[in-house]
Amino acid sequence: MPECRRLTVDDLTALVDLEQRAQPLGWTENALLLELVHDDAVVLGRHENGALVAYCVARSILDERWILNIATDPGHRRRGHADALLTAAAQLDLSTSSAPATSMWLEVRASNLPAQVLYQRHGFVVVGRRPGYYPPLPGGDAQRETALVMRRALTD
Ligand SMILES: CC(C)(COP(=O)(O)OP(=O)(O)OC[C@H]1O[C@@H](n2cnc3c(N)ncnc32)[C@H](O)[C@@H]1OP(=O)(O)O)[C@@H](O)C(=O)NCCC(=O)NCCS
Repeated sequence: MPECRRLTVDDLTALVDLEQRAQPLGWTENALLLELVHDDAVVLGRHENGALVAYCVARSILDERWILNIATDPGHRRRGHADALLTAAAQLDLSTSSAPATSMWLEVRASNLPAQVLYQRHGFVVVGRRPGYYPPLPGGDAQRETALVMRRALTD
């Protein structure tokens, strides 16, 4: 299996292309660039045959590690890319952060069952809900959607 590699601004074009393919209402180029240059953020990527096929964004906020985004190219799903990225994100040593991470956090649409299965497999449990947090998906019922807040411990 390919390794997880830290992405840089040189990967921005490939990252934007991947994000557009991977999810509706994906992040903008500016949002992705901000994470690539942010001191407390790491963007990890996975490649197949030299092409970027999956990525995740992890940020440290005090002793919390937040997974701000994760996506796999639709043509490369169910091959363990997101699984490997979450494992790598949990093991990151973000030396710029003020404290070692003791927990991992993320938010996910209540309707996004594939992602929730993935997160549960990594030990995340639902610890909160933010009603109306997400804008409606294109072609959906035009209602804003609840975010589930999920957390897992990183230390015993
Ligand atoms: C969610 C997503 C990131 C998973 O990426 P992936 O690389 O296909 O995931 P993996 O291959 O590592 O899957 C690992 C495990 O997660 C679970 N899983 C992943 N996709 C699933 C699906 N569609 N249905 C059910 N379980 C799923 C399974 O347990 C899977 O293990 P298995 O294949 O051995 O059964 C991908 O579907 C995606 O990019 N979705 C759009 C973006 C998105 O929703 N991101 C999350 C934002 S919070």
